[in-house]
Amino acid sequence: MKDFRASIAKLLVAQNIGLEEEQILRAVETPPTADLGDYAFPCFALAKVLRKSPQLIAEELAQKVRAEWLSRVEAKGAYLNFYIAAQALVEETLGAIYRDGERYGASDEGAGKTVCIDFSSTNIAKPFHIGHIRSTVQGDAIASIYEFLGYRTVRINYLGDYGTQFGMLINAYRMWGDEQALEADPIHELLRLYVRYNAEAKENAELQERARDSFHLLEQGREEETALWKRFKELSLREFQRVYDLLNIRFDSWDGEFYHSQFIGEVLSELKEKELLVLDDHAMIIPLGEEMPPALILKSNGSSTYITRDIATACHRKKVYDFDESIYVVGTQQNLHFRQLKAVLHKMGYDWADQVEHVPFGMISLKDGAMSTRSGNVVFLEDVLNNSIQKTRQIMEERNPELENKDEVAKAVGIGAVKFQELYNNRIKDYTFSWEDVLNFDGESGPYVQYSAARANRVVWRAAEEFGMMPGYPVDGALLSAEEEHQLLRRLYDFPGTIEQAKTNKEPSLITRQVTEIAKAFNKFYNRIPVLNAPTPELVRARLSLVAASGRVIRIGLRLLGIASPDRM
Ligand code: ARG
Repeated sequence: MKDFRASIAKLLVAQNIGLEEEQILRAVETPPTADLGDYAFPCFALAKVLRKSPQLIAEELAQKVRAEWLSRVEAKGAYLNFYIAAQALVEETLGAIYRDGERYGASDEGAGKTVCIDFSSTNIAKPFHIGHIRSTVQGDAIASIYEFLGYRTVRINYLGDYGTQFGMLINAYRMWGDEQALEADPIHELLRLYVRYNAEAKENAELQERARDSFHLLEQGREEETALWKRFKELSLREFQRVYDLLNIRFDSWDGEFYHSQFIGEVLSELKEKELLVLDDHAMIIPLGEEMPPALILKSNGSSTYITRDIATACHRKKVYDFDESIYVVGTQQNLHFRQLKAVLHKMGYDWADQVEHVPFGMISLKDGAMSTRSGNVVFLEDVLNNSIQKTRQIMEERNPELENKDEVAKAVGIGAVKFQELYNNRIKDYTFSWEDVLNFDGESGPYVQYSAARANRVVWRAAEEFGMMPGYPVDGALLSAEEEHQLLRRLYDFPGTIEQAKTNKEPSLITRQVTEIAKAFNKFYNRIPVLNAPTPELVRARLSLVAASGRVIRIGLRLLGIASPDRM
């Protein structure tokens, strides 16, 4: 694909305007409104060097800059505006889409490279709540984006299946456990036990002590504690799997904190050998300088901590996968933890510590305060997903009762709606969960975008059915030169660049926004310009080709986000 932005920079370099190609490239922007062209170059920076007003510079350049792929170059104030010619835009965009098909926007830049993506990483024996949607859905999308760009990915669910909280659960179960309730509804029963234990331990230091002791026994592999822990884990995983199935999300590895705890001994010896451990009031720490608190490696009772296990895990992953990047999709609350982790790895002398990256996201709170497992104030993700499916089903019954396979479509749209709204905003933003928002399918929503793809699909299908006409390429650019067509093509043209940027910034929302823009441009085009009723067969085919290309690109984008595209809805 021709890179219009880079080509514009080259044209300007040839005008000897006193800036390096790099600088020019960085300055070329997309204008705020379509009437100002496809690209714009601000001339302010040139005034000093060329000793002329930026307006005058823009006017002079507008007279001189020419290329067959530009329909116009115009000065507007201090800006130079570039209009891409319809023929060039059609060739570059539709040409690439019909050449690359399902791989439009894909690349092999990652060939031979491995990326570990630690995401979802739920804590067993705790509810899979709405807060977990963030790491789970963002992480899945990031993994798919990397895969599309040719990287080998290792999707890792680093289960939180180890730690003092299991000491609590073991004790709580012994004191108040209800076997029947545990069988029937494990997570609720475990939550009840956990909440009660926490509440009582607040007033009762002995309970805290006992929890630590039980965890210690578990760490040493004592049979009774291990058996209970195993049971809690199996029950939890069975519950979690239902949610992952609904979300259609898979993992390559489920090795969690417990699994990696077997490597702690090795790590401790290494830390000792490298003289990094410092004794501090019976505990073992690694001081990390002025900038952050020390890492607590062993508690005074000899138990490992979260960071000890993460150090062991990072080293093990490097050994097993030899990653080029190791990504952790975890909330901002753990910023310090990951800074400490990287600092320790650096201190251990591993330059691959630079390949370790925390990809943080903001918090979800509930209207009536923060979500807290400890206090029992949680919204279950499974409930959100099921409600969304149900609501979709209702809407379909009202609007489209004839639709075949309603259940399947309701699932695709209901789940898609929830994923879409999670992926619509910058991941770093906090948000408040509200049932109204998550079940609001109007405006810029998943269903809107899915519907646009289905609409495109229907047109293609009718063209085949009624006229025996198929979309395809080549297409004469002159036939697609209306403003609506130009705008739609431009958004399709930008799609590969958006994927690249989404990967660089680990920001799936860029793709969500771009597919939304494409859907909007597509609907505008389709509402104003007749396709199957166009006056000539040549026009019908050109427009049909644009319709089919739009549907295809929307579907590729949704797929990267983990959102299904029903053929009809
Ligand atoms: N289980 C942790 C939690 O729920 C997240 C684990 C993230 N991954 C990691 N390697 N620390 O907070």
